[in-house]
Amino acid sequence: MNFESAKSQLTKVLVTEEQIQSRVAEMAAEIDAKYEGKEVLLVGVLKGAIMFMADLSRALNISTSMDWMALSSYGSGTVSSGVIRILKDLDAEIHGKHVIIVEDIIDSGLTLSWLQATLTARGAASVDVVAFLRKPAAAKVEVPVWLVGYDIPNEFVVGYGLDYNERYRSLNCVAVLDPKVYS
Ligand code: IMP
Ligand code: MG
Repeated sequence: MNFESAKSQLTKVLVTEEQIQSRVAEMAAEIDAKYEGKEVLLVGVLKGAIMFMADLSRALNISTSMDWMALSSYGSGTVSSGVIRILKDLDAEIHGKHVIIVEDIIDSGLTLSWLQATLTARGAASVDVVAFLRKPAAAKVEVPVWLVGYDIPNEFVVGYGLDYNERYRSLNCVAVLDPKVYS
């Protein structure tokens, strides 16, 4: 879905389709350089990270495998609850593996710091965090993020995997949702 098709519910584009692709390529190059010669497990956080995972994994030249977790912290609203629940755990053991957590967006940072601690406690050889977007609140807490695609303002955004009540995930850019949709 493109911006034009959902224009009446969106206020502006924050990251275009072209910007997404060029930044993903840069991020992949950094990951390739750091992990050259290593086998990496990409852990995607469902469902928001699906588009980023699809693009990032294909842009990587190192050898990777993929696993997924589903966590709940948001429910259907637009404000982080801080309560994290595992809805779907990883399929395989991660002991001794080099793990890269692939996230759509860091807002409060609660989800990520919890997830990094959890995967480290399971005995991973290393756990890095890569997030496509980051909001300003994340800078205030201790979020162990290695790579960030774009820093964005504190607005509720949708597209490129990000939803509002399961809608707009297929939008091909990142856009600000018109507050009239949720207020
Ligand atoms: P955190 O624990 O507050 O960092 O929340 C992170 C999760 O909340 C993300 O992985 C998203 O799924 C969701 N989230 C945070 N901000 C937004 C947004 O602006 N739009 C859509 N989902 C968001
Ligand atoms: Mg998420």
